[in-house]
Amino acid sequence: TGLGKLYENDFTIGTAVSGWTFSQNDTELLDLVKHEFNSITPENALKWSRVHPAENEWRFDIGDRFVEFGLENNMQIVGHVLVWHSQVPHTIFQDESGNAVSKNILLKRMENHISTLVDRYKGKINAWDVVNESVTPEDGWRKSPWFEIAGPEFMDKAFHLAHEADPDCHLLYNDYGMVNPKRRDFVVKMVKDFQKKGVPIHGIGMQGHFSLDSPDITEIEASIEAFASTGLRVHITELDVDVLPSRWSSSAEISNRADYSEELNPYTEGLPPKIDDKLTKRYEDLFKLFLKHRDKIDRVTFWGTTDAQSWKNNFPVRGRTNYPLLFDRERNPKNAYHAVAGLKE
Ligand code: G3I
Repeated sequence: TGLGKLYENDFTIGTAVSGWTFSQNDTELLDLVKHEFNSITPENALKWSRVHPAENEWRFDIGDRFVEFGLENNMQIVGHVLVWHSQVPHTIFQDESGNAVSKNILLKRMENHISTLVDRYKGKINAWDVVNESVTPEDGWRKSPWFEIAGPEFMDKAFHLAHEADPDCHLLYNDYGMVNPKRRDFVVKMVKDFQKKGVPIHGIGMQGHFSLDSPDITEIEASIEAFASTGLRVHITELDVDVLPSRWSSSAEISNRADYSEELNPYTEGLPPKIDDKLTKRYEDLFKLFLKHRDKIDRVTFWGTTDAQSWKNNFPVRGRTNYPLLFDRERNPKNAYHAVAGLKE
């Protein structure tokens, strides 16, 4: 039947699709996407550095194909992402001599970016991640170049610009670690401020890069409830479950470890049944929770489709063998898939 169909009365089920899938025209993978999902997000293709690598240079080819694919298959199409400190050309923050630009110039550049991009896909892209990862639990606002140059108003302005370019589009704030109580509280406060000021925002994206045992289901639930209490819709935007050990505090630390491959990349020969059972149970618990809160949740999107393409194989160092998704490296459904489907069959 496909997960999208099974869950159609609850929320949409999405997947992030890589640019490579379109440029290589991987029709087998695209058929799987069509069959299983009713929402798509471009993993990288609409990020600033990909779509707008220099001031007067736009590369829309992959984005256009992504949007066409979504339209042809009647999918909810999500744009990712308008304003982020990562995957953005550094030159946008600098003048010709390499000094920081003024707030005015930076906001003009942002305006040009958002207006052009949102307008191009107006009425086609249904929801945009407008601002990504701008809050940290330690400091509140992330001290990114956006913040340092323009202050927190860059966010207000980004939402207004996106709304002006496409008044019917659903606009999201998206972040990871949204289960952390400090980040959760800060985001709730930020959203309430937006609402007071009339900043157009409609949804909160909880990325959902989880691991086998953390965060706890009750903590995830507390965030879903807190975000929904603002009146906005909740989206799980980048779901995956890391099965590998994570005992490092920085990627420098892990890449310096002589015993890295043995200790921290233990399942290169395949996922042991015991761990596969844990993964299956974890996905089952997560989807039980999402179903319990189906009145608050619009969408659950996986960050990738099969284990082979997942970013988790390259984070925090390249070359790990991870198993975070519902489809294996041969593109077959895993036990976790059957557990998620089974909740609706
Ligand atoms: O395309 C180049 C290729 O030409 C080159 O040979 C290769 C080797 O360096 O790199 C390729 O680019 C990589 C790209 O993914 C495509 O695979 C970049 O190095 C790599 O940095 C990039 O990573 C992406 C990451 O965002 C960047 O921050 C991941 O694919 C993507 O899954 C990830 O997605 C983010 C969300 O946008 C926001 N939330 C967190 C999430 C996970 O980090």
